[in-house]
Amino acid sequence: MHWKPERRMKLCSAHQFSGVTGYELGNGHFRRPLMTSMMYLAGDIMIDTGPPNMRNEALAAVSDKTISRILLTHHHEDHSGNAAAIMRAKQVPAHGHAITIEKMRTGFDILPYQHIMWGKAERAGILPFPESIDGSTCSLVPVHTPGHSRDHTAFFEKNKGWLFSGDLYLGSRVKYFRADERIDDTMNSIRKVLKLDFDSLFCAHNPRGKNGRAALAEKLDFLENFYGEIWRLIDGGYSDRAIIGRMTKGEVRLVKLFTLGNVSLERMVREGIRAVGKQGGGAPATR
Ligand SMILES: [Fe+2]
Repeated sequence: MHWKPERRMKLCSAHQFSGVTGYELGNGHFRRPLMTSMMYLAGDIMIDTGPPNMRNEALAAVSDKTISRILLTHHHEDHSGNAAAIMRAKQVPAHGHAITIEKMRTGFDILPYQHIMWGKAERAGILPFPESIDGSTCSLVPVHTPGHSRDHTAFFEKNKGWLFSGDLYLGSRVKYFRADERIDDTMNSIRKVLKLDFDSLFCAHNPRGKNGRAALAEKLDFLENFYGEIWRLIDGGYSDRAIIGRMTKGEVRLVKLFTLGNVSLERMVREGIRAVGKQGGGAPATR
């Protein structure tokens, strides 16, 4: 009997929203990709560029499209990975936060699971955001939204009610954090964008064409409850170990194992403990 290894499955599909096209890209080593990433085209402005291990597909997707500039929400490789290739192919500039510029200039190390999932981003010369970002169909305003990463930036389109939110949303009930994510900064960034008037939430992994603002408000509720629970346990005299034990019952062990502990629910709980400690034990912040 012959055993034929399952071929890797590359996924590339275009999703149409009103005025925006989202290109969903994912490279699955075993059947379907575990996670896909979106790069968006709003008129002639491109937001994020997809993972490096989908470079040919990303280039093919936009080969017949007019692009005037690229905006990066943050430096993570599944967003910045094809910036250099698309800049070369289209002869266009890319813009990002000062930290994105520095990370993309020097290059940055990634962990084994990131190599497997997305590949390493090529270095690129990224420029600061111009004073106004006007495209053929829309004007975008950068909004610094740290938390997921220090350079994280969302892009707001006031007249259309769009928010390109990078990795600020991901889901209303997140189950894990990366080691470098900050829960207090994330909550503050969500509070900041909830003051804006938008309905479409162009998340890089989980877009919401409608009711995106409500979905993001739901995530803030979830994080505030999660944070509040940690605060109550600390206030009640529980040790860090006891809190972690109580609050990691829903740990997705495969994710923790695959990322060698870099991405986990435990990380999220530890991050909550750090943030409560930083606040000096004061009552949880609310809106
Ligand atoms: Fe990210």
